[in-house]
Amino acid sequence: MGFPTGDDLANAKMWMNGKIIPWADAKVHVLTHALHYGSGVFEGIRAYATEDGPAIFRLDDHMERFLLSGKVYGMEYPHTREELSEACKAVVRENGLASAYIRPIAYYGYGRLGVHPSGLPIEVAVGAWEWGSYLGDEALEKGVRVALSPWRRIPPDALPVSAKACGQYLSSILGTMSVKKNGFHEALFLDHNGNVSEGSGENIFIIKDNVILTPHTGSSILEGITRDSVMTIARDLGYEVREKTLVMGDVFGADEAFFTGTAAEVTPIREVEYRTIGSGEPGPVTREIQTVYLDAVRGRRPEYASWLTRVAPRTKTVEEAA
Ligand SMILES: Cc1ncc(COP(=O)(O)O)c(C=O)c1O
Repeated sequence: MGFPTGDDLANAKMWMNGKIIPWADAKVHVLTHALHYGSGVFEGIRAYATEDGPAIFRLDDHMERFLLSGKVYGMEYPHTREELSEACKAVVRENGLASAYIRPIAYYGYGRLGVHPSGLPIEVAVGAWEWGSYLGDEALEKGVRVALSPWRRIPPDALPVSAKACGQYLSSILGTMSVKKNGFHEALFLDHNGNVSEGSGENIFIIKDNVILTPHTGSSILEGITRDSVMTIARDLGYEVREKTLVMGDVFGADEAFFTGTAAEVTPIREVEYRTIGSGEPGPVTREIQTVYLDAVRGRRPEYASWLTRVAPRTKTVEEAA
C-alpha cells in the first residue's frame, strides 16, 4: 500500500483539523461515530510528477465532489474549500513527494454513539503517500482479469450513489473478497436491475465497432472524475461516446474494455467471467486513450493543462535559507 515506514515514517506528516501533524499522531478514539456506522466521506486524488514539480490532477473537481458528499450526509466542514485544497497541496509538499495518492476524509467524530449524528464534531484529515499501480504491476500494460461480484451495487434509492461515502464501500469489499479468492484482479458489479454498473473502485467502458460505451448514471455508478476525463479525451480524439444501459452480453461481445479510476487510471480488461475480451490483448482504442490520459496527468498535453494544479515547493524558512 506504500504507507511510510522506518525513517520515512518518522518524518511523514498528515493534515488534520487544520494543522500539519506527525503521521503517527493522526489518531481517533475507537468510539468514533464513523468507525461504528461508516459515517464518513472521502476522496481519492493523485498528484503526478511533471516538469514543474508535483501537480494534482483535477483537484477542483475532487473538492467539488468532497463538498457534495459532505452535504449529502449533513456535514458542515469547519474549513473552506480553499483551505481543503491547500491541505491537499500541503501534504504532498510537506512529505516531499514527487507523486502521490492523496486521501481527504471527513467524518462524524467522537462524542456519543447512537445512529443520529447530530451535535458530533466533524473531523477532517488529509493524508498522502506514494501508491503505484492499483491493480498490480502488470495491470496497465497487460490488462486485468475480472469476475462478477456475487453482490450487486447498492441501488440509488437505498443510498445516494453520487456521494463517495465510507459505508458504501462495504459492498466493494464483499465483491473484491469474493473474486480475489478465485484469483481475479477485480470485481465487476451489476446494478439492482441486473445491468452492468462498475468495478469496486472504477468505472467501466467497452468499445464496440469504434464506439465507446459506458453505463449511465442511473446504473448505480459513482460519477468518476477519470470517467469524465476519459470521455473528454475520447471525444477530442474523434470517437463517439455514449452513456447507456449495458448488459453482460454487451461486455462479452465487446471488442475492447477498460476500467477508469483515480487509483486504477486507465486499466485494460482482458477477461471477464472466463471470457476473453476481444483478442485478449489491450486493444488499439484503449491504448490510444490510455496514452493520452497518462500523458495528460503528467502535464505532457497542453490542451489538458487546466486539469493540473501545481504544488508549489515549500518556501524555506529564514534559518533554512541562511
Ligand atoms: C465505486 C467507484 N466507482 C468509480 C470510481 C472512479 O472514480 P474517480 O475516477 O473519480 O476516481 C471510484 C473511485 O473513486 C469508486 O470508488
